[in-house]
Amino acid sequence: MSVLKEQIVSIIDKELPLITNLSNVSAVLKEVEDVSWVGFYIVEKDYLYLGPFQGHVACTKIKMGKGVCGEAASKGKTIVIDDVSKITNYIACSSSTKSELVVPIKKDDQIVAVIDYDSDTISRFNDSSLVREIENISKVLSELF
Ligand code: SME
Repeated sequence: MSVLKEQIVSIIDKELPLITNLSNVSAVLKEVEDVSWVGFYIVEKDYLYLGPFQGHVACTKIKMGKGVCGEAASKGKTIVIDDVSKITNYIACSSSTKSELVVPIKKDDQIVAVIDYDSDTISRFNDSSLVREIENISKVLSELF
């Protein structure tokens, strides 16, 4: 088990509210190097709402399908963007962001949330072992929903 996943498994407590667990999990996820922002968007009907995060102020409400987060949630798949300036379906929350990773959290075949990572470095998430690690963590977190 990766150190990150081990830390997350050790801090989550299913007896606690979702927001409480995700708050501490976001702090652990921020330990990944060269990351400017990490957090959760929680799916409710046709929108994704900002959840616990670490970093600058961010967009609070994203329509399903819109932006990288909305697209990952509607397709139910991980999206890695090497250079956000090259894509049109992107919502800018910070002008310094260069690359992005969004991993959906699935519960009983429904997308319940996404994990969103931003970096100020181009192609920061072009690292399949990191992507796999975050996908594994998303499976652990699905048990909280
Ligand atoms: N860039 C995201 C919006 C969320 S912020 O990065 C925190 C998107 O395009 O969905």
